[in-house]
Amino acid sequence: MTESSAARLSAHVGGASPSRPASKPRAHWLAPTGLILLSLVPIAAGAFRLTELTSGGAVTPANARFFDSPVPVAVHIVASSVFLVLGALQFAPGLRRRRWHRYSGRIVAPAGLASALSALWMTLFYAMPAVNGEALFVMRLVFGTAMAAAIVVAFVAIRRGDVATHSAWMTRAYAIGLGAGTQVFTFLPWTLALGAPDETMHAVLMGAGWVINLAVAELVIRRRAARSTRTSRTSGRSGAADARLS
Ligand code: HEM
Repeated sequence: MTESSAARLSAHVGGASPSRPASKPRAHWLAPTGLILLSLVPIAAGAFRLTELTSGGAVTPANARFFDSPVPVAVHIVASSVFLVLGALQFAPGLRRRRWHRYSGRIVAPAGLASALSALWMTLFYAMPAVNGEALFVMRLVFGTAMAAAIVVAFVAIRRGDVATHSAWMTRAYAIGLGAGTQVFTFLPWTLALGAPDETMHAVLMGAGWVINLAVAELVIRRRAARSTRTSRTSGRSGAADARLS
């Protein structure tokens, strides 16, 4: 690896660059730790649902759809949990340098696809409770499709060595998946203050989780791009060359 390509790789993974001092290794774990913490509630809810399904819990009107058709929800819970935990670790610069990123990515991408496709399946074929109205139905179709498409675009990009495009689209896919975590915090204050939301508010609070995450993802992607441009200026390479790392 030449000196300048090392600088580019370092900038991509958030390490030291000629213009920026190395951040402390402990700081590299802040993002993955925060993302895993945000994932904990939906992962715990999934573990609860799987336990109920496998231990023959009582069938009620609230859970009958899961007992009638357990495979999609089981696939969704396992794949989503793997995607959120391993996906969070993909943001740790130290692990990326150790090839972990590549090996783990072979699990993260299919898990993300399985999460999105099973979500679409449940949206289309489960008999949902009345509070899941048409607006949420459409949003689930849009965000589920966008998550799957983002993973495919990211996969195609990395196959041709375009790290910047890969990284941007995986970040967007992760943001959509992590909507399940952010929705806990959009629902919590509303429910505590005003009780269970009606159909419209339910859709607004669900949508807010996805929109907030996608807005944060765009900020992260822009910051990364700006840092990469700064690094390429100091190392004397073009931005286009910087976007390609094979
Ligand atoms: C990747 C992170 C995700 C996690 C951890 C997660 C978690 C879960 C869990 C635990 C359930 C079962 C709910 C229950 O037991 O009542 C569930 C159901 C469901 N999820 Fe996800 N989910 C994720 C992403 C998504 C996404 C991105 C979508 C759509 C865009 C989605 C759509 C659905 C749908 C439609 C159901 C069925 C809901 C129902 O029948 O009431 N999920 N999810």
